[in-house]
Amino acid sequence: MNTRIVTVAGGPADGKNIREAGDIIKAGGLVAFPTETVYGLGGDALSAASAARIYEAKGRPSDNPLIIHICRMEDLQKIAETIPQTAYTLAREFWPGSLTMIFRKADCVPMETTGGLDTVAVRMPAHETALALIEAAGGFVAAPSANLSGRPSPTAARYVIEDMNGRIDMILDGGESEFGLESTILDMTEKIPVILRPGYITASMLKEILGEVAGEGAMSLPEEQEPPRAPGMRYRHYAPKGSLTIVEGKEERVVSYINEQIEQEKAKGRKTGVIGTDQTAGLYHADSIKNAGSRNEERTIARQLYRILREFDEEGVSSIYSEAFDATGVGQAIMNRLLKAAGYRIITLK
Ligand code: TXA
Ligand code: MG
Repeated sequence: MNTRIVTVAGGPADGKNIREAGDIIKAGGLVAFPTETVYGLGGDALSAASAARIYEAKGRPSDNPLIIHICRMEDLQKIAETIPQTAYTLAREFWPGSLTMIFRKADCVPMETTGGLDTVAVRMPAHETALALIEAAGGFVAAPSANLSGRPSPTAARYVIEDMNGRIDMILDGGESEFGLESTILDMTEKIPVILRPGYITASMLKEILGEVAGEGAMSLPEEQEPPRAPGMRYRHYAPKGSLTIVEGKEERVVSYINEQIEQEKAKGRKTGVIGTDQTAGLYHADSIKNAGSRNEERTIARQLYRILREFDEEGVSSIYSEAFDATGVGQAIMNRLLKAAGYRIITLK
């Protein structure tokens, strides 16, 4: 398949391109598009055949449900049932934005879209191009992250091209993702809503409105979540090709431990990489050193994480070490993704 790649720059040409992209989705095709979190791979959410095509393009198991993206508040009630009043309050506060909420699904949503579940995940993204595309596509766009299954989510169109070129109809290039990590997922079907995936909308932001949320420390090991609440959590995720180990402890100890490991790996002929910060990047002896930004600026680290993991792949780095980050606020989302990428391999230095 020939994939058309089109730049959307906020100019007058966008209207025509987005209309065409919307027509492709309406006709059962797939279009990757930018959102403020990561790039999405969009298809018609109300079509079973489109859902099947999404799974095929991603190489993703078809029991892993898709998020439906909407562009108008009133459309929520068309695809979801038993929507609690608090969900409207959350929507008023955080939509459009990086919050995904889960409800009972309405009959019009095919089981193929929800991976066989009777619940549906819904989000109204904040990116202008995303909103325009959803509208042009008829209002309901199913979109997982636009990566091949198991790879880090794409935070720029070049990564979508890497994974999806030849597999989908069109890619809308809207530059770098503003946040770089996927949305917060909140299960609204429980009396006390449960955070299934941490993101930019943090537990404390949700608590200000809800009073109480569950699942706050959603860092648990895969075997501890039986059965997994968000089916996507079951699979090895966000992973670079090299092996990644997280090292936590006092800064000095972490730096010297990682440097020791690097010497050993180099001696075995492996190409080594480190994820450090402004504070430490200059202290490492690895072949490839990535500075994720200042330790105090979680948002910068979040924006860079997936790009860094993909760069290690491009450079053929096989042994990667990362410092640990504070697991509070947005840091919780960072550590959640980093732990998954590492297959939960973390070393704690006393
Ligand atoms: O920021 C985002 O959410 C991005 C952009 C494109 O919007 N999308 C995204 O989609 O991250 P995806 O498919 O890569 O991740 C969706 C996660 C999966 O882990 C899936 O299992 C979970 O949401 N999910 C979807 N529907 C669900 C449901 N009904 N119940 C439980 N988990 C659900
Ligand atoms: Mg994904």
